[in-house]
Amino acid sequence: MAKAKIRYNCNVCGGISPKWTGQCPDCNAWNTLEEVVVAANGGNRSARLQEGVMNPPKVSRLDKVNATREIRTATGIGELDRVLGGGLVHGSVTLIGGDPGIGKSTLLIQTLAAMADRASESTLYISGEESADQISLRARRLGLDLAKLNVLTENNLERILPLILHAQPGVIVFDSIQTAYTDLLQSAPGSVGQVRECAAQLVQLAKQSGISVFLVGHVTKDGAIAGPRVLEHMVDTVLYFEGDPGSRHRVIRSIKNRFGAVNELGVFAMTDKGLREVSNPSAIFLSRHDSQVPGSVITVTREGTRPLLVEIQALVDSTALANPRRVTVGLEQNRLAMLLAVLHRHAGVFSGDQDIFINAVGGVRITETSADLPVLLAVLSSLRNVPLPEGLVTFGEIGLSGEVRPVQNGPERLNEASKHGFRIAIVPQGNSSPKGIQGMEIIPVTRLTKVLELLFK
Ligand code: TYD
Ligand code: MG
Repeated sequence: MAKAKIRYNCNVCGGISPKWTGQCPDCNAWNTLEEVVVAANGGNRSARLQEGVMNPPKVSRLDKVNATREIRTATGIGELDRVLGGGLVHGSVTLIGGDPGIGKSTLLIQTLAAMADRASESTLYISGEESADQISLRARRLGLDLAKLNVLTENNLERILPLILHAQPGVIVFDSIQTAYTDLLQSAPGSVGQVRECAAQLVQLAKQSGISVFLVGHVTKDGAIAGPRVLEHMVDTVLYFEGDPGSRHRVIRSIKNRFGAVNELGVFAMTDKGLREVSNPSAIFLSRHDSQVPGSVITVTREGTRPLLVEIQALVDSTALANPRRVTVGLEQNRLAMLLAVLHRHAGVFSGDQDIFINAVGGVRITETSADLPVLLAVLSSLRNVPLPEGLVTFGEIGLSGEVRPVQNGPERLNEASKHGFRIAIVPQGNSSPKGIQGMEIIPVTRLTKVLELLFK
């Protein structure tokens, strides 16, 4: 094989330089050169073109490709299987990101133990962060079967790869990719070049050997996985731990999945025995009130493939600032600004002299537009200090001209709400189920003004 060469790439202009310098010789940007490995290609270009003519690469017609369906193994942890799209695919690479201390290492050691137990997979936990003692102590505390868990504390890929190829485990965990380094590069572990090159080698290993790989990735201050974004492109599945660090609940969301739906949520609770699955998560995102309070609205979101009841709370208070505050937790702030503008223009409700705080209870993050109507109702309920009727659930997207638009999977959302005892639903006309739902009054609406007349007159 041709020997690998090292080059330095500018991450701004893409310029290539044979030596590292503080300033890019092409675009003059500072500190932008990154070490990369380039495989030296043998021979010159015209010789290779000539060879391509003699011996062209093969093009396959898709129906002639002999593809077997992907083989999956259930991990034995239902909520993780759900976000993975129905089990772990052989030879896949899954990147798990999340804040420090959120439970990445705990989940993965539990997963390995469950897989060793259920599917008799041989597993290997490679840690560059913790000592074997620490990992053993944790596994013991979690009550796992220690005899089935193997750990390796090492972070040099040249030492790890031969061992993996020799031992051929079914699943490996690499905790974390930021601690790995390869001798090919001189830069320190955690640098962009190292992270990218180590991940590339592990991806190649997974594809060639059929070993499933979990990579743990640290996140930066603003929540992205540290290192290059390209890491997310290289792997098959990207999972993020989200959730409020103060709460017991942990939500895992699939951001990218080559083998299943994105935005699928898995819900866990952190206990003294590690992460426990919450298989009926709707109830945990509702706070219990003895009576209805102003500013609280229950909605049904559908992140991924499962409907979820979530409480949205709003607090509206007169401001002392020239620029009133618009603070959202678990919802998008720009969307709130847009909704408030619609409320002003189409329903004549002015909120420019009020601070507005919105919170999705339980640390869940809502990415769907179905929360538009509930957010506005929570704001109005708090502004007017009027609680909404008991047993009310609502969802719907709001358009810029004040119309209430239908959202996907209306009947499924209504059924979920009905199962949890909600008796009145205000929903977009297109989502009102023609057959109705037993024990539930469904009020179809087409315009925001109509909803306000119903609730606040
Ligand atoms: P950890 O898995 O080490 O987090 P990460 O790898 O994402 O940095 O999680 C550690 C946190 O979880 C720590 O704050 C303690 C808590 N924890 C429990 O509450 N119960 C347990 O059984 C375990 C193992 C950890
Ligand atoms: Mg950890």
